[in-house]
Amino acid sequence: MRKNIVAGNWKMNTTVPEGVALAKEVNEALKANKANCDVVICVPFTHLCPVAAEIDQTVLGLGAENCADHKSGAYTGEVSAPMVASTGAKYVILGHSERRQYYGETSETLREKVALALENGLKPIFCIGEVLEERENGTYNDVVRRQVEEGLFNLSAEDFGKIILAYEPVWAIGTGKTATADQAEDMHAFIRGVIAEKYGKEVADNTSILYGGSCKPSNAAELFAKPDVDGGLIGGASLKCADFMGIVSAF
Ligand code: 13P
Repeated sequence: MRKNIVAGNWKMNTTVPEGVALAKEVNEALKANKANCDVVICVPFTHLCPVAAEIDQTVLGLGAENCADHKSGAYTGEVSAPMVASTGAKYVILGHSERRQYYGETSETLREKVALALENGLKPIFCIGEVLEERENGTYNDVVRRQVEEGLFNLSAEDFGKIILAYEPVWAIGTGKTATADQAEDMHAFIRGVIAEKYGKEVADNTSILYGGSCKPSNAAELFAKPDVDGGLIGGASLKCADFMGIVSAF
């Protein structure tokens, strides 16, 4: 059966010493209070090596927030999937709405990134989600279906089985406005249905689908209680150990 997962996305926050201290704090908290789900932190590239040296990845998984769409070569400023894997990280967030919106990521580049992540043994946390206008004009299911189909449906069933999905309605990210638990459940069940159409019920039932967007200790339990919500991808609330652990303990 699919895993429940709480993953932090630190985005572009914390210096290296601050990040290492936060990672150590979360790691210690998880050793003291065993989680009922997998817990992962996705951190800036600069933080991967020093954080990997300080945490126990059997307790707290480590991931990057992005990787390049090329393996190596003359791509100044980019960080490749093999580089990420060589730090000891096991996960990579791909297709976050901030990357789609501010850095022009398309389904085409994302297919390259997903392939490279998988080739290098990294588990993609693949993000999808509609903007406010699409929520309001009722096209949100079509938008999310297209993101899943275009970004991932070139994969074999075996490779698709390595993907973690994160539904993050863009209107709920960093806005304090959470999707209601029912809105999240409706979308997660819809996504699972789209996966089942392509790969069958067993693959769909085994896919973890996380919710992201203003998830915090006060609303996590209600969201995670929904049958198709398998955890969260947490932005702001992953930057404080107590808040992040409050969300983890919702399972
Ligand atoms: P917030 O939890 O800050 O709304 O961010 C969600 C997110 O984008 C996680 O990837």
